[in-house]
Amino acid sequence: MQRVAIVDPTESTRESLRTLLLGVDFVWLEAECARYEYFPDVIQTSAPDLAVVALDGDKAKALAMVGQLSAENPKLPILTISHDHQALLTSLQKGAKYFLTHPVSLEDLLAALRRALGEAGGLEVTPAGTARPGGGCSVVAVLGSRGGVGTTTLAANLAATLAADPAHAVALIDLDLTLGDADIALEVTGGETISIADLARNIERLDMNFLRRAMARHEASRLAVLRHPLEIAEAGVVHEGHVERVLNLLKVSYTHLVVDLSKSLLPTDLMALRMADLILLVAQYELSSLRNVVRLVHGLNAEDGLGEKVRVVVNRQGADGVEEGISPKKAEEVIGKPVFWQVPYDPKAVVAARVAGHPLVTHAPKSRAQQSIAGLARVLYGKPAGPDPNKGSKGGWGFFGKR
Ligand SMILES: Nc1ncnc2c1ncn2[C@@H]1O[C@H](COP(=O)(O)OP(=O)(O)OP(=O)(O)O)[C@@H](O)[C@H]1O
Ligand SMILES: [Mg+2]
Repeated sequence: MQRVAIVDPTESTRESLRTLLLGVDFVWLEAECARYEYFPDVIQTSAPDLAVVALDGDKAKALAMVGQLSAENPKLPILTISHDHQALLTSLQKGAKYFLTHPVSLEDLLAALRRALGEAGGLEVTPAGTARPGGGCSVVAVLGSRGGVGTTTLAANLAATLAADPAHAVALIDLDLTLGDADIALEVTGGETISIADLARNIERLDMNFLRRAMARHEASRLAVLRHPLEIAEAGVVHEGHVERVLNLLKVSYTHLVVDLSKSLLPTDLMALRMADLILLVAQYELSSLRNVVRLVHGLNAEDGLGEKVRVVVNRQGADGVEEGISPKKAEEVIGKPVFWQVPYDPKAVVAARVAGHPLVTHAPKSRAQQSIAGLARVLYGKPAGPDPNKGSKGGWGFFGKR
């Protein structure tokens, strides 16, 4: 927990700054001051990790005080806030290191706090993923090429596999707003039955506490899950702007976000696709799925070149009666893109894990499907996530080694 001291003579803006800070779980509001002239003493006695100075109460006094503060406490990071760009610039010359322009949004504040406290060496990785140093958050969107192809299975199991690494804090977000079932694939607890629709309804008042309360948990895998709306009628409540805000806030607290998408390419899906670092497009060796891969990649290319981020993952590889004699080579010719990964058909493990409401990584860690998904996680993030699935495999499933 990092300690912060603030000074702002204007009660209303001080109040709103306090409310924002109270919603940030990695800072503790150590001291609050209403007079610039008292603030240096407050700093001496409270010795915070960060000083936040709102300049607009009296710019001349505030700027002189910033100069004094930085001379007396050269190691103390100072963050200034103002409507006035010139005043902010002067504050930087006087020794402030970070600034925010009024009005301050939670996202901006979080980014500035993370930068200021991260650079000061204060933030630590916590297993709960509440506070992290400057390192970014990776967003993976999982999109199906048709219904039932294994999108949720891949999203949930990849997320749980990543969560098995204690250095990671992972959240699975169910954006299949109408018919999502990530919370069935993984039997979750908690979350106080707050869904993404409740977050959307309260988007203006959304803070980190509320967001944290909305996250259900799959205890055995340490995975956090944001559920789809409970009622189908609520799906329409969630708009793309809500998705953008919720994902941005989640990025502050987690190292990885895995997003399970609908098959409808709704504006909410497109927002997640835009925000994703990587899109896993789930397919099968079967004509309708492969044809949709072509159509989807084409469509996503028209959307700001989103096609670049697509990696094709073939699921149920080796399933009898599915593959219609389509070889990987033939599939690659059809889709004009390499198959990035294959997950084998493994009904015994996959169905049993699903019925139990557990991910493969805890329910059937040695299963062929899990070995493959662990290999995928390893290829994506370059970290060991179990034995190499390709070693000793006769079936030829696994990484194709091409992008
Ligand atoms: N590799 C696999 N081996 C065997 N069964 C699998 C595999 N992948 C998925 N399944 C099974 O296929 C069914 C559909 O999977 P899933 O729900 O993940 O697909 P989806 O694409 O998310 O479907 P929807 O279109 O409903 O969102 C599930 O019963 C799941 O257990
Ligand atoms: Mg699904």
